[in-house]
Amino acid sequence: MHLNKIIPFLLLAFVGCQDSTDPNPDASVIEASKQSEGITVVNGVERSELALTMRLMYDQMKLVSDSLKDGKTIHTNYLNRYKSIHTDIATEPEKIDEVYQGLAENFIAKYDDFEKSTSDRDLAFNNMLDACLACHASKCPGPIKAIKKIKLREI
Ligand code: HEC
Repeated sequence: MHLNKIIPFLLLAFVGCQDSTDPNPDASVIEASKQSEGITVVNGVERSELALTMRLMYDQMKLVSDSLKDGKTIHTNYLNRYKSIHTDIATEPEKIDEVYQGLAENFIAKYDDFEKSTSDRDLAFNNMLDACLACHASKCPGPIKAIKKIKLREI
């Protein structure tokens, strides 16, 4: 039994930016990250640097979301890591155009605002996720539902 015959189904919700019909996208993320060690071929396509950075951002922001919901203090220092979205190689390199770079810059600015925020952290967090969503709306609709799910209740 070859693993790469199974993985495509587990990863379907996110790979290649297609719309997700998975009713529970969170489960797919967890399943996929458990399987990702050493596996780079999905549907015959290598998982790109950008997809790996995105997955990391999603997992980390989900933890941050859960912590903020529980009123816990959070410590994040991810800004420099996330800046690689400007240079990471994407599954579909043609998507990385000037529009993408503008949306990426906007996201990095909102992310920086969030890390620096002292009051209104929930609001800064949601504004940062809106910047994820702005890019996803034009470049990669698949994960939109999953990203919306980690937004905090509107205040
Ligand atoms: C500037 C545009 C842009 C921003 C900002 C952005 N994304 Fe993405 N995202 C993409 C693109 C393009 C892909 C497809 C990557 C690929 O397959 O190479 C992607 C893929 C993903 C994936 C799927 C990864 C996989 O395993 O295939 C997730 C999940 C994701 N993004 C979550 C997020 C979250 C959460 C944020 C904000 C914290 C965010 N994205 C911000 C453009 C963006």
